Amino acid sequence: MIEFKNVHKTFEGRASVHALRGVDLSIPSGEIFGIIGQSGAGKSTLVRCINMLERPDSGEVWVDGVLMNSLSPKELSKSRKRIGMVFQHFNLLNSRTVFQNIAFPLELARYPKKDIVERVTVLAELVGLTDKLQGYPGQLSGGQKQRVGIARALATQPRLLLCDEATSALDPDTTISVLRLLKDINERLKLTIIVITHEMQVIQEICDQVAVMENGTVQETGRVVDVFTRPRSRAARSMLQGFWDPKLPSALQSTGNTILRLTFANQKVHQPVIAQLVRTCGVDVNILYGRIDQLKTAPFGILLVELVGSNEQRSQSIAFLQENQVEVEVFNP
Ligand SMILES: Nc1ncnc2c1ncn2[C@@H]1O[C@H](COP(=O)(O)OP(=O)(O)OP(=O)(O)O)[C@@H](O)[C@H]1O
Ligand SMILES: [Mg+2]
Repeated sequence: MIEFKNVHKTFEGRASVHALRGVDLSIPSGEIFGIIGQSGAGKSTLVRCINMLERPDSGEVWVDGVLMNSLSPKELSKSRKRIGMVFQHFNLLNSRTVFQNIAFPLELARYPKKDIVERVTVLAELVGLTDKLQGYPGQLSGGQKQRVGIARALATQPRLLLCDEATSALDPDTTISVLRLLKDINERLKLTIIVITHEMQVIQEICDQVAVMENGTVQETGRVVDVFTRPRSRAARSMLQGFWDPKLPSALQSTGNTILRLTFANQKVHQPVIAQLVRTCGVDVNILYGRIDQLKTAPFGILLVELVGSNEQRSQSIAFLQENQVEVEVFNP
């Protein structure tokens, strides 16, 4: 479990930047936890405070019951071996082979040579790079480079993996394959993974919980399905807007009829709620847009519908949908 308690961090300079403004956040063990927010929100700073690459000015950072701020340099360096880090631009050593890159943290930790060979072999297999061990980073694709980065981060058997925009430099297909690898690692090794991203898709694919950051604060946290279906903060809503909703043609926006945005989660996706709505409330429903998708493992659907009927029928319809656990919002394009 990782806990931030009222963490503040200011970068002093010609213009000082208050990058973290009283962050409180709990990250449970064993899950994939996403941190999302616009550029400059403070995501990287927050995560770098976990292993004290950045020191908070005030507040506490706890990792598995240890107050990280209070550690001596020696204790800190020991703790850092339990925390792996993966970066957007891989940060590989280009003059070293793949084997030597993965082995690097083990050499620093003075593992015996035989153990290093064994460990690197296991890691290469885990990330699917067994046949590339003698190659150099310059000979690898972006996805393969990131697999080396992940293997290296896992070398000293961390309990926690921090990924800062690990897929931001990759194309969509490669992104998916690296995300699958992270999910697989989380399940197999049972380690906690923190994923920083500005892409909703990353959260959608692999995260259990998410924190939405804005301007140095955490605006909202929760299970991904809850934040995606019932965002409470303006920050979460604005991150989701471009992700789920289409742009409706202007002709459709000005019909004067009510347009509703319906969100279905879990079992509701399987039920013929719209057919029941038409039968029960006698309203005509014009479907403008629909999408069904998956949040990690849970099905999730969105419909934009136009209701044609009397005022009374429309209010009855909204009540009916809400009684059936469908999230209803009047859609303002
Ligand atoms: N070492 C530093 N010195 C001065 N200012 C910094 C430093 N690191 C970060 N900042 C500032 O702190 C704020 C938060 O930065 P941070 O890198 O944490 O944002 P971020 O959410 O990770 O953004 P991005 O999505 O662009 O990576 C920004 O305004 C940034 O300019
Ligand atoms: Mg960042």
